[in-house]
Amino acid sequence: MRKSIIAGNWKMNKTLQEGISFVKELESKLKNKNVNCDVIVCVPFIHLVSIYEIIDTKIIKLGAQNNADNSYGAYTGEISAAMIASTGAKYVILGHSERRVFYKETNLSLKKKVELALKNNLIPIFCIGESLEERKSAKQNMVIETQMKDSLFSISANDFEKIILAYEPVWAIGTGETATSNQIQDMHTFIRKIIVNKYGQAVANKTSILYGGSCNENNAKEIFANSNVDGGLIGGASLKIDTFLQIIETF
Ligand code: PGA
Repeated sequence: MRKSIIAGNWKMNKTLQEGISFVKELESKLKNKNVNCDVIVCVPFIHLVSIYEIIDTKIIKLGAQNNADNSYGAYTGEISAAMIASTGAKYVILGHSERRVFYKETNLSLKKKVELALKNNLIPIFCIGESLEERKSAKQNMVIETQMKDSLFSISANDFEKIILAYEPVWAIGTGETATSNQIQDMHTFIRKIIVNKYGQAVANKTSILYGGSCNENNAKEIFANSNVDGGLIGGASLKIDTFLQIIETF
């Protein structure tokens, strides 16, 4: 019932031209393969229109990496959920730890972002994860539960069903250090339990929970073998066709 998903997070990488040629090549390679998961690329805002125009969304789906916490108005430099939706993109990463840390996004501002994304028919890929300090002091479960409660639990079950979650331990992002299989399985099981308690088993059964953090072509198989892991949010390894394809083919 749950969708398997591999989502690439390009972060602030690739010029428009590089992005276009990457997606063209990726699509032509995926066409000839038996792909058993949804493939999403989350690209910089300015790439959205051009990439949407050239992709077959049955093969590659398109997302952004953030949306504003206001609908419209005097917020210089911001991009609204409605603007993203107007490009044709269907997904948006929200709550990535880099946004939480570098741009001071809070559980409350993320709650507004999630609500606006949903209102504009975007599917949030909502990131949750603990810092190294929090993991060392065994606070990871509390941190994750708080992130979910404060940003997501005001939405209806109907809306929650649309959300994709991504567990990304902050200490594993871009560091080459992955969480162990046991840590991943424990956390994903815990996350699903939180959803069961709040929204019931039926909703929890429909929610895809991705793992992110130094996931690559070598460790993907072991990570995705966990029964509560429904795919991956891939940073560095999504920037090269070969490695991204190998991860997709793991399913
Ligand atoms: P990484 O990034 O795969 O480079 O660790 C993952 C992410 O930040 O989503």
